[in-house]
Amino acid sequence: MAIKRAKVITVTSVKGGVGKTSTVLNLAGIYAGMDKKVLVIDMDLSSSTIALSLNLDVKKDLFYLAEDINNNRFSNIEDYLIKYSDNISILAAPKDPRLENKISSRYLKLILGKVNSVYDVIILDTIHHMSKYTLTCMDNSDWIIYLMSNDPYDLKNMKSMISILKDMGKTNYKVVLNESINHNNKIFTKYDIRNIIKNEIDFVIPSSFYIKNYHKYIIDGKIVTMDSKVRVVNKKAIEVFNDLAKSLLEDNVLENKK
Ligand SMILES: Nc1ncnc2c1ncn2[C@@H]1O[C@H](COP(=O)(O)OP(=O)(O)OP(=O)(O)O)[C@@H](O)[C@H]1O
Ligand SMILES: [Mg+2]
Repeated sequence: MAIKRAKVITVTSVKGGVGKTSTVLNLAGIYAGMDKKVLVIDMDLSSSTIALSLNLDVKKDLFYLAEDINNNRFSNIEDYLIKYSDNISILAAPKDPRLENKISSRYLKLILGKVNSVYDVIILDTIHHMSKYTLTCMDNSDWIIYLMSNDPYDLKNMKSMISILKDMGKTNYKVVLNESINHNNKIFTKYDIRNIIKNEIDFVIPSSFYIKNYHKYIIDGKIVTMDSKVRVVNKKAIEVFNDLAKSLLEDNVLENKK
């Protein structure tokens, strides 16, 4: 029997605050609903947003893990993972951002190797610039989600990023327009956006997914897409997340053709 290997997905962007962390958690909720086992790794090492969003009590974070590997104290990866629900586990970033530079990015590959056969999907949250960590995430992922908002700075930077991705020979990225951010301010049409970024938009999270009391979910440590009310009221957005989630389970056909 073939050994199961998780699909590894990086969620990133060229601008801060466009909904990366929310999308990571929302996708995790969607996969959990599909009965997939999901591990979320918080690779935004400048803050511990995933653990904070889910109200998790973190005993051992990525810094501890890296230190233990470094000092030959590591024995079981499970000691560092926090169970959020039956299907979702978390590897948290350190709370103290000063520890960021003390974690070697080379450990990510090693960590992925230890969890690959246990999970169906591994989702990596990142910071919005191409730090060494973001680059390592991208290089070790099956798919990269580039999230962008309907904002001129974001779109102009996205255009540059698309040409960089093409230069790098990357074909495994999906461009996702998040219209639930700046939902009242749809500056450009989709036609305009395609022309600005010189690329297709693969998925659109609709403006109807703007949730007024979103902060309440964060305060309560809940994942929006796991809420039965949201799943009914925001049917259109849930369908988009479902389609996106399914597409990320597929192999990258372009890569195979290379
Ligand atoms: N669907 C939504 N409805 C309402 N508010 C939302 C929605 N999605 C995200 N937000 C809010 O938008 C803000 C930015 O979201 P988020 O933190 O996910 O972005 P990010 O790209 O991870 O940011 P950063 O670059 O700082 O890591 C947060 O305050 C979040 O609560
Ligand atoms: Mg974030």
